[in-house]
Amino acid sequence: NNHLVIMAGGVGSRFWPMSTAEYPKQFIDVLGVGKSLLQLTMERFAPVCRPENVWVVTNKKYASIVREQLPDLPAGNVLCEPCRRNTAPCIAYVSWKIKARDPKANIVVSPSDHIVTNTAEFTRVIRKCLEFTAETDSIVTLGIKPTRPETGYGYIQADLTSSSLRNKEIFRVDSFREKPDLEKAQQYIQKKNYFWNAGIFLWNISTITNAFRIYQPSMAKTFESLMSVYGTPAEQEAIDRCFPECDNISVDYAIMEKAEEIFVCPADFGWSDLGTWGSLLEHTKKDLYGNSCIGNDINLFETHNCMIHTTQERKVVVQGLDGYIIAEKDGTLLICKLSEEQRIKQFSGSDKQ
Ligand code: GDD
Ligand code: MG
Repeated sequence: NNHLVIMAGGVGSRFWPMSTAEYPKQFIDVLGVGKSLLQLTMERFAPVCRPENVWVVTNKKYASIVREQLPDLPAGNVLCEPCRRNTAPCIAYVSWKIKARDPKANIVVSPSDHIVTNTAEFTRVIRKCLEFTAETDSIVTLGIKPTRPETGYGYIQADLTSSSLRNKEIFRVDSFREKPDLEKAQQYIQKKNYFWNAGIFLWNISTITNAFRIYQPSMAKTFESLMSVYGTPAEQEAIDRCFPECDNISVDYAIMEKAEEIFVCPADFGWSDLGTWGSLLEHTKKDLYGNSCIGNDINLFETHNCMIHTTQERKVVVQGLDGYIIAEKDGTLLICKLSEEQRIKQFSGSDKQ
């Protein structure tokens, strides 16, 4: 039985000021296609998972946005976190909750803020990996061929010689390294067997719950002890009490860097983590000078490779800039070098919470 978990509790702080802690980017129509990134995510998985088996884990304060944007989702399938603890507690909670309902679940976990351009290929790859996790106790990741020494991603070192698993599409992972420094990232991208972690994970329910028992025993204990309250009126109160006690850690550090039976399926379906302004620049239409302008009245002179985004009726004039982000929303104006965009998180103040 296929289940889909959508993680939608992040604040998208590197996309500030468009994305804010009150209304993060996954709920925004970033691409201007009439649907939010969250809606696009649910749509992308429709061929492999029915709405009854889709679970969205988010912060309490976004629950009403999720229900409004995904009306087909049963109300009980929106899981509400009382505070931000990153993705490991999010996955632990939903895993035991799914286990309480379906002890044979086969699961794909997805971020809510990515874009995929080749959806047919995406579906094919997800189906293939779900077949694999239905039959084996393994953790499967999707690997994307790196194009730059990005330090905001996880890197997967694959053993490309490892047997002929699934028609040579799925390989053993030798090591997983989350968010390396620039020097390491530069070394990794020179090699053929390193991939970016797309942030999409597949596993069956017993594999992931066992991995938590081994590598995050206290989180496992917490969510396992609540098995009898899931789906009852006592659930939210119990979660509100226990959740804040969990370590603030992502699944990449908590499980992926430690686990042993990990596999990777190298894939090419036009993937992008719309994580930063630079990635939006890459995926929107640029003018002859490499600028992307989203807004009404933007006028550029001797300006190159800039990402300019304004939300209000406002005339913008830029002269002589190369490689900058200029973004404005609700009275906040950001001007930042594209090469320094990882620091926007700091500037937004949301990493202090
Ligand atoms: N429910 C919940 N609670 N969701 C969360 C939380 C949380 O506390 N924190 C983040 N998320 C959601 C985000 O909304 C996003 O959809 C997803 O989880 C991933 O979180 P990010 O914060 O965007 O992670 P990242 O981009 O730094 O890194 C991850 O994704 C990269 C690829 O996009 C890692 O898995 C990297 O290894 C990977 O390369
Ligand atoms: Mg991300």
